[in-house]
Amino acid sequence: MFSLKSLLSVALTLSVGIAPVTAAITPTDPSGPVVNLSYSVYEGTTLANGQNQWLGVRYGAPPIGNNHFRKAQPPSKTSGLQSTKAFGPVCYGIGQNNGPSNPNMYGEDCLFMNIWGPSNFTRHSKLPVFFWLSGGVYIRDVDANFNGTALVEWTRNNMIFIGINYRVGPFGFLTSEKVRANGDLNVGLYDQRVALEWVQDNIAKFGGDPDRVVLVGDSAGTGSIAVHLIASNNRGRDLFAGVIGLSPFFPTQLFPSDLEWQFTEFAQSVGCGNATDQLSCLCQLPDTTLHEADVNMAYPGRIATALTLWTPTIDGQLIPDIPFKLLFKGKFHTIPSIWGMYTKTPWNVDNDDGSLFAANASTLSDVASFLQDNYPELSSNQTSRVLLQYQDIPPRPGFAPFYPAAAESYADITFRCPGFELSNRMSIAGMPTWNYRYNVPTQQGIAASTGVYHMAEIPLLFGLGNTPIPDPGTATYGIIPQLRGYFTNFIRFLDPNAVPVPGSISWPQWEVSSNPVCLVFQVNNMTTETIPFNSVQADRCHVWRPLQVQVLQQ
Ligand SMILES: *[C@@H]1O[C@H](CO)[C@@H](O)[C@H](O)[C@H]1NC(C)=O
Ligand SMILES: *[C@@H]1O[C@H](CO)[C@@H](O)[C@H](O)[C@H]1NC(C)=O
Ligand SMILES: *[C@@H]1O[C@H](CO)[C@@H](O)[C@H](O)[C@H]1NC(C)=O
Ligand SMILES: *[C@@H]1O[C@H](CO)[C@@H](O)[C@H](O)[C@H]1NC(C)=O
Ligand SMILES: *[C@@H]1O[C@H](CO)[C@@H](O)[C@H](O)[C@H]1NC(C)=O
Ligand SMILES: *[C@@H]1O[C@H](CO)[C@@H](O)[C@H](O)[C@H]1NC(C)=O
Ligand SMILES: *[C@@H]1O[C@H](CO)[C@@H](O)[C@H](O)[C@H]1NC(C)=O
Repeated sequence: MFSLKSLLSVALTLSVGIAPVTAAITPTDPSGPVVNLSYSVYEGTTLANGQNQWLGVRYGAPPIGNNHFRKAQPPSKTSGLQSTKAFGPVCYGIGQNNGPSNPNMYGEDCLFMNIWGPSNFTRHSKLPVFFWLSGGVYIRDVDANFNGTALVEWTRNNMIFIGINYRVGPFGFLTSEKVRANGDLNVGLYDQRVALEWVQDNIAKFGGDPDRVVLVGDSAGTGSIAVHLIASNNRGRDLFAGVIGLSPFFPTQLFPSDLEWQFTEFAQSVGCGNATDQLSCLCQLPDTTLHEADVNMAYPGRIATALTLWTPTIDGQLIPDIPFKLLFKGKFHTIPSIWGMYTKTPWNVDNDDGSLFAANASTLSDVASFLQDNYPELSSNQTSRVLLQYQDIPPRPGFAPFYPAAAESYADITFRCPGFELSNRMSIAGMPTWNYRYNVPTQQGIAASTGVYHMAEIPLLFGLGNTPIPDPGTATYGIIPQLRGYFTNFIRFLDPNAVPVPGSISWPQWEVSSNPVCLVFQVNNMTTETIPFNSVQADRCHVWRPLQVQVLQQ
């Protein structure tokens, strides 16, 4: 047995290190809200805006030693009050290093989440949950520690926001039969599922409704969502009720047998190449050594380093088969959804999601090389055929002539066509689904020729200062009510039109049988447009579509 008083003094000692035992804290004067979970008692912070904030809440045991490359284990029980007043370390990402000014910013012990919700909740509140999955190309958790407070405030404190960390790079996606035999494949995705199971078990204690969890992600977070839809098909426990995917990221996703070389190179680079048990050799190494070897490489036979080497693998379990094949067969969890991509101003391009990633190509053959470096299964013939669609795109200032072709073709195969396909498949399954194009240019995007670049809307959705992403400029602020209005409507009512937002129009569902329509986000000019997705040759996605199953995402 322990008393609350002793818990508090232990917590104070731990958090400030030198707190005198006589600190004037009594059980009737706790310094923050307390929640008692089955394994730990956490103390959060009450903010001036009527919300409780819980930072660095552990959802998994430290994935170190033999727990490396293994599904997250349940957290151990702790005694004493655990402070959740500071972020936990962010999972190591490529190129992300601790330094004198941020000694504990990154680490291996990183299975933490952050939670914002109203402080006036009761046991009966049953608030909907906005569950945010960070993007970062599966090599970084770029947005794991965004501040969710403004989004919750937007609902007048009638929603819970959760953002999580999950393992990335080799820590999350090292792939080999050796890993399968003595660990688990796709542990980065399993981390997300363990966090979702945690939500089922615990969110009611924060005022949340486990039956109204909506996954929201951007980029690799949305790629993950697509995988969870497939993984959740006919699988017992429902972990979420709806999804919102910003910029669905579909990089190449290979079978373990295609990636043995990856494991071998990684093991060799840290000196485990000659070990009889390479995996166990890796597990003994200090995290800093593993992190130093955490780099991208070129796929065998390819020229340039891939943007995406550490991606989910088709393990036959979590991901039973090639994702697109399963989507086409209707084998996925059918629930209401929103999917969206970027776009068109001022160059009138279909999509600018690729502008931050594309090679500065001088010739069409540079573009082909760039695509094959990232989609190694794409044959030269297929690439040439596809690129016929991208030959006559006008150049952009500051770039070599074929950069726009590289940006648009990469955007189409990686983000835009998958985004339309996800809406198509949900519509075929009879589920309400909505699709949008975000078309709010920024001064930076125009100056840098990157247009309406990837993640341009994030600082507006979360609120300036709540993310480290640059302020997109005052000319874009007018879109904030629409972004937050439609999205939080969906979280709360599974319908973006539920409570009309001033200046908004009714957002029609995407209907695959007729000409599908998507919503276009524009300041003071919300509109809709028809996408000729299904007409032969009317859209570049028609050319990419057969390749998506055959070679690209397999
Ligand atoms: C937390 O809950 C457990 C189980 O109900 C109980 O034994 C324990 O005393 C509680 N701790 C606090 C600080 O309330
Ligand atoms: C909490 O406060 C918000 C904002 O004032 C209000 O809308 C909500 O109904 C309150 N919830 C409870 C359970 O009192
Ligand atoms: C999040 O924003 C709220 C409101 O501005 C602020 O009170 C809180 O300290 C912020 N949290 C973090 C971790 O920065
Ligand atoms: C591994 O074995 C090879 C061949 O015996 C040897 O050349 C190499 O130095 C060894 N590497 C290490 C790290 O021991
Ligand atoms: C690739 O295209 C060339 C020229 O069109 C053709 O001769 C060759 O057979 C094709 N290769 C494959 C594998 O389809
Ligand atoms: C792209 O390449 C062109 C010429 O090859 C060069 O002038 C331009 O500065 C490069 N742009 C960027 C952003 O690297
Ligand atoms: C509003 O958007 C439509 C469609 O993109 C465009 O044709 C029109 O010029 C825009 N109107 C204004 C005032 O910007």
